[in-house]
Amino acid sequence: MKTIVLRPCRDENLITAAAAILRRGGLVGIPTETVYGLGADGLNETAVAAIFTAKGRPQDNPLILHVPDVSWLPRCAREIPAAAYTLAARFWPGPLTMILPRHGSVPLSTTGGLDTVGVRCPDHALTRAIIAAADTPVAAPSGNLSGRPSPTTAAHMLADMDGRIDAIVDGGDCRVGVESTIVDLTVTPPRLLRPGGIPLEDLEAVLGEVAVDRAVVAPPEEGVRPRAPGMKYRHYAPHAPVTVFTGAPARTAGAIRARATTGDGVLLFEEFTGAFGDCTARSLGSMSDGESNAHRVFDALRGFDDTPVKEIFAQCPDDRGLGLAVSNRLKKAAGFHVIACGDTPRLIGLTGPTGAGKTTALAALRRLGAAIVDCDALYHEMLATDASLRSDVENAFGAVFDGTVLDRKKLGEAVFADPEALARLNAIVYARLPREAMRRAEASGATVVGIDAINLIESGMGALCDHTVAVLSPAEERIRRIMARDGVDEAYARLRVSAQKDDAFYRENCAFVLWNGEKTEREFSAEAETLFRSVLQGDKGGNET
Ligand code: TXA
Ligand code: MG
Repeated sequence: MKTIVLRPCRDENLITAAAAILRRGGLVGIPTETVYGLGADGLNETAVAAIFTAKGRPQDNPLILHVPDVSWLPRCAREIPAAAYTLAARFWPGPLTMILPRHGSVPLSTTGGLDTVGVRCPDHALTRAIIAAADTPVAAPSGNLSGRPSPTTAAHMLADMDGRIDAIVDGGDCRVGVESTIVDLTVTPPRLLRPGGIPLEDLEAVLGEVAVDRAVVAPPEEGVRPRAPGMKYRHYAPHAPVTVFTGAPARTAGAIRARATTGDGVLLFEEFTGAFGDCTARSLGSMSDGESNAHRVFDALRGFDDTPVKEIFAQCPDDRGLGLAVSNRLKKAAGFHVIACGDTPRLIGLTGPTGAGKTTALAALRRLGAAIVDCDALYHEMLATDASLRSDVENAFGAVFDGTVLDRKKLGEAVFADPEALARLNAIVYARLPREAMRRAEASGATVVGIDAINLIESGMGALCDHTVAVLSPAEERIRRIMARDGVDEAYARLRVSAQKDDAFYRENCAFVLWNGEKTEREFSAEAETLFRSVLQGDKGGNET
């Protein structure tokens, strides 16, 4: 079968053409605001059977009927409760499917043998016009091959369905990106069977109490039939296995960083991508933007199939708002292989220019029981032990090692005063250091770990920390301390200080600043301890910038 793509800009008769295919029992890919659907005449048993064949879908998994407006409800369902009309008035057209008693004209093959039927009115004018023109409720599962991520573009759908269906209507990218919320109105209280584009909280605002089906949050129990039969299958899965990490975003990012090795796939909130330069990273959008997370999740999962990744690690939003739907899709993509990150250590990132007093601050953090990961020491340890790191450095900068020992002066000359060369060196180091630092933090067994890194922010590690603290002090004091500590002359100390990032950079990028000026070391040490104590108590009483 040749699959034609119908485009509104080109095919003037698109609506009648698509409706005619549906009327004669054919299959049409239809755009909706949630995901693309694989549409057929929902009252025609032969057409419905063809959907199951094209998708490779188990016969007991019922289909949703799509209608152009609420006046069609009685064509699909009987004994319609008032709540259905209240919900339709509030959320239709939109991503809400209601389960109602089945109308006698709806074949059992459409409902997977159930005496109930799912009905929804999609928020896509083109698709509503096609259904109205076909003059029949359109059964449409998501337009993916069974088990694959749902399609959110016509191209996704073509990738799965080319040659299997008559046509695809290209209606652009799906606005919402996850499927409709399914609520069962045949039970009291109404029951959420699948979280989706309408948040549970919005349903509760209209319906009062809404029960949440177990299948929404947990893998199916052996031998138990979930109320939405589709919830029992492994779903939404890219080719590579997926592991999902739940918990506070900084924790999950740190835990993923400790595990992901070069070339692995990582699915992250935008804020954390900086520390994953060696991985194939896809962004879910900002951790505070549930709409963006929903919009991107399937595209991101599918995108990994165009890459050679063998394993995928994913951050998971919490259950608020659209987060419940996104987290449900991710967990199903992972076959419920979920790692809860409650017990990973709390990380405090410490940074600032040399000579500002970071060592004193670290000692204060240690007094509170924290372990410290010294990233400068770690870098030199890795240079001595990691042959692939040495070879990357030598490929970029020539023979700067004597055996396993770095000739610091030689490398210094290569990168000093050449910003591009320094950027190349940093890229090589940042591709390895964050992973090793996170591994050490986990391996320490401590509940609090200080990550001591002069390049905390630039390496992306700052985002992996629960808190970031910059230690700053007046330039003249730093110069004095460097001279005393390293036994160098004033001119050289000034050069070192002038080569470093200015205070504004640290103030901008760190949550807290410890100012070490015009005070004794003892006073500063006590001040640092007070700040860390309050940060760890969750009391942001410090001088947060
Ligand atoms: O957003 C959506 O709902 C998309 C677009 C295309 O409209 N459609 C969609 O269909 O996601 P599908 O077939 O991929 O998922 C339908 C889900 C399945 O989990 C199925 O088991 C459940 O709805 N379902 C359908 N009818 C049901 C019924 N009568 N009782 C319980 N669950 C039902
Ligand atoms: Mg589906």
